[in-house]
Amino acid sequence: MAIKKVLILNWKANPNSLGEAVSLASLINQYVPSLTNKYEIAVAVPSLYLIPLIQVLDKSVKLMAQSVNTSAIGPQTGALAPLMLKESGISYSLLGHSEERKRNQLANEEIASLLEANLRNDLKTTLCIGETMKGSKALEEIKQQIDQILLPLIGKYSTLEINNNVVLAYEPLWAIGSESGLNLNYIQKQMSSIKEYLDSKFANNLYLLYGGSVDLENVKQLLDLPVLSGVLIGEKSSQKDWLEDFLQSMI
Ligand code: PGA
Repeated sequence: MAIKKVLILNWKANPNSLGEAVSLASLINQYVPSLTNKYEIAVAVPSLYLIPLIQVLDKSVKLMAQSVNTSAIGPQTGALAPLMLKESGISYSLLGHSEERKRNQLANEEIASLLEANLRNDLKTTLCIGETMKGSKALEEIKQQIDQILLPLIGKYSTLEINNNVVLAYEPLWAIGSESGLNLNYIQKQMSSIKEYLDSKFANNLYLLYGGSVDLENVKQLLDLPVLSGVLIGEKSSQKDWLEDFLQSMI
């Protein structure tokens, strides 16, 4: 059986009420029978909506926290720990999104320790990596992120545990929220290099996703690239009309 491609809908800090979040979740549910035979669907939602949406979202859709920002429970006002998520029935998380890295000035080492805590607490993680700017240094920047965030897991966790619990999302910063149009050759090339680099480091079969300006016009072409296991779609996926067009187009 062909492996299903992954669609992650990252709502970011949207929508502005629980009622709207419920209505987006109900819309996704309507498309579950037509889409889940082809795709794994996940929705990354603001923390406030996680618990109520457990009751609403179809069980075949993965509900994802957008952020985990402390390794352990304790005196850290405002923080969210992996154990809290896991104990509340949330098994998936996004980590190291560039918007969060920038806002909280997160270094690779901090993200590495959050990733390690996620694995320790059995929380599956989609780790975002990607270069700040196009150019000759881009691949070096990505390799450094892999070296500093992902590779420290080797030795502490088995290859099987890493493969089963971590997904990598390649999100070049210049492509996020941009209207500039995507160069599929560039994406294919970067992602093949990422795969080659990972292969040189350990026996991985990590899912590699792409995120940044994925839209109705390019999603199918992206999903056809053999190196891609799926896509991550940003804010548009929290707009009801766009979401409906998208879900309809994927049938
Ligand atoms: P975008 O964002 O689809 O709006 O470019 C992707 C992301 O940041 O997750």
